[in-house]
Amino acid sequence: MHGIFTTILMSAFVKFTYTCENSTVIEIPENFKIGASTSSYQIEGGWNLDGKTENVWDTFTHNHPEKIEDHSNGDVAADSYHFYKKDVEALKYVGFNQYRFSISWSRVIANGTIINKKGIEYYNNLINELILNRIEPVVTMFHWDLPQYLQNLGGFVNPLITKYFEFYANVLFENFGDRVKIWITFNEPTLYCIGEYGEGRSGSYIKAPGVGEYLCGHHLLISHANVYHLYKNKFYDKQKGEIGISLKLQYLYPKDETITKEFVERSLDLTNGWFINPIFSKNGGYPEELVKIFVKKSIEEGTWSRLPIMSDELKKRIQGTADFMGVNYYSSELVEPKTQLDDSPQFDIDIGLTFSVDERWPKSDSLWLYIVPEGLYDLLIWIRDRYKNPKIMITENGYADNGEINDFERIKYIKQHIAVILKAKSENCNIVSYMVWSLLDNFEWNIGYSAALGIFSVNMSSPLKERTPKRSAKFFKNLITNGKFEMC
Ligand code: BGC
Repeated sequence: MHGIFTTILMSAFVKFTYTCENSTVIEIPENFKIGASTSSYQIEGGWNLDGKTENVWDTFTHNHPEKIEDHSNGDVAADSYHFYKKDVEALKYVGFNQYRFSISWSRVIANGTIINKKGIEYYNNLINELILNRIEPVVTMFHWDLPQYLQNLGGFVNPLITKYFEFYANVLFENFGDRVKIWITFNEPTLYCIGEYGEGRSGSYIKAPGVGEYLCGHHLLISHANVYHLYKNKFYDKQKGEIGISLKLQYLYPKDETITKEFVERSLDLTNGWFINPIFSKNGGYPEELVKIFVKKSIEEGTWSRLPIMSDELKKRIQGTADFMGVNYYSSELVEPKTQLDDSPQFDIDIGLTFSVDERWPKSDSLWLYIVPEGLYDLLIWIRDRYKNPKIMITENGYADNGEINDFERIKYIKQHIAVILKAKSENCNIVSYMVWSLLDNFEWNIGYSAALGIFSVNMSSPLKERTPKRSAKFFKNLITNGKFEMC
């Protein structure tokens, strides 16, 4: 049946027939890796076992269950602490090349400097199991679950955090660096710093908008750079790995025809540029336009710049400290100037932008997720042209629904996104891998378990937490086996 792609799925009562004219075959290039992502607090459970101390998400969910949509927490979650072998089995079932997971800082180190052997043992077991099954570990050092002890010292608004993070990273390199060759220092600094130190709506639960988010960002960038230099100076010769950072990025489109191309470009710099520019730009430092805003504001406010000043020396120290850029992409937005600027300062007020969505964009079952694959394509081309074509790993991309096993909408979303990634790759964007978020249905932060992004469902009510492959897991299995997929 040339050009016609027909899928007939039978279940006990339902028969779906899906026909599409003019399908295209998308081939996965050789050496392009495909994997899946998770994070420690969202799947591990074992919150107080074997010497693990509390992190901010333990404290936050225990003290404020009302802040989580279904009043749940990650105390047990998918219980990967006990069932990590099931996770590796799931990865193996699909045939994934890579597994991105994060390390729970408070599982491996207590009170900032006391190493917990049992915690190290857990990750050694997981890493060994992955290697045994020829799955490459991609390890995130920090995916938001800061040890409460360090939060009590101020967390990322205290410059001391840079020392603790370096100490932690050193422990990770010493214990796992012989087998882990891809390291990600931080997951999504923008979301973390705004959500946890500006708006104070999660984890750290600190509400200091207009100052907290910028201090957090500054110390996070310094921590990232210190760890990059530590690795290159002390470990690289022996371990030969790579270090990157995962950034949540989006493309922006003009809200209406009055918005100029230059305005959109400037908006991209002010948003995506906050963390890209210091690390990946030729000259380093915060985006010029962002600095200008804060110079002006400091004069108006009669005080110092709320965005910390980056000395030339610091710019140099941070500039170029990534072997690759991790891109987390879910959706895009429309942008326009903010008209009401008299609210108290916080990131979007400071940068003077209002974001919205195009109601014509298809929507997922989760309200925040509009489906805009063309935004990922435009973003990748923008990065290629603006930042001298860095090496890119797509470290997250995924679709939220209500947990259906026959998750056809997820498959459609994934196909559309992989297709644009490969299109960008064919236009010279240096993209080397794609990791879907997520391997498992998991604890989705403030919305708890009320949305599902996994390609495996987890039986949360059973003590054995059985993992069941959804249609999308089977889609990935076929894609990896055949090296291609068909798309309408
Ligand atoms: C985060 C994940 C989260 C996902 C879906 C990303 O921003 O890194 O931890 O589960 O979004 O909400």
